[in-house]
Amino acid sequence: MSDARFHILGLTGSLRRGSFNTGLLRVAQELAPDGVEIEIADISAIPLYNEDLNREGGPAPVQALKQRAREADALLFATPEYNYSMTGVQKNLIDWLSRPLETTPLRHKPVAMMGAGGMFGTVRSQLALRQVFLFTESYAMINPQLMIMRSSEYFDAEGRLLDEALRQRVRMIVEGLVAWTQQISPREGREA
Ligand SMILES: Cc1cc2nc3c(=O)[nH]c(=O)nc-3n(C[C@H](O)[C@H](O)[C@H](O)COP(=O)(O)O)c2cc1C
Repeated sequence: MSDARFHILGLTGSLRRGSFNTGLLRVAQELAPDGVEIEIADISAIPLYNEDLNREGGPAPVQALKQRAREADALLFATPEYNYSMTGVQKNLIDWLSRPLETTPLRHKPVAMMGAGGMFGTVRSQLALRQVFLFTESYAMINPQLMIMRSSEYFDAEGRLLDEALRQRVRMIVEGLVAWTQQISPREGREA
């Protein structure tokens, strides 16, 4: 990581090449304020959760993901909605990150979420995600929120968010997450 003072790890719930949600993380990266760095986690090699593998420390890509999550000041989830909930991809990431319970980087970690979907704009997947964060004891940011409805009107086929007002809303999520982290766990030198 660079010498930015505040590090956010971005986690997408979609493996789709033209994913709108991964596109949201790219906007967050582009518009992050000075002193804030957003890394988008490479989740392409994360296998399905297997407790046997977890007992052995987990596969190398999982170990790397856990390390990045541990080092990050905060996590930013971009969550699509599948069948009224978060995607299996998203839940799988969280399942890996959640174990072992003694060392999970999710515990007391400031987290925020945003999403792009269809008619209800990921409302249900974000609620499902919030429920999971109760168990993991992650500190989920309450406001601002970003739920983009009818996403195909605002993104191109490569997942680029074209709408300037929505791009600024993404920036507000990032700024909100930095402020939220400061509010719940102030630490000298971490302010952006
Ligand atoms: C299996 C599956 C289930 C879906 N279920 C929902 C749903 O319940 N609600 C919704 O708004 N959209 C649903 N969709 C549409 C996706 O949310 C939409 O394709 C979205 O763009 C996916 O996110 P992505 O662009 O980041 O890949 C579903 C899509 C798939 C493939």
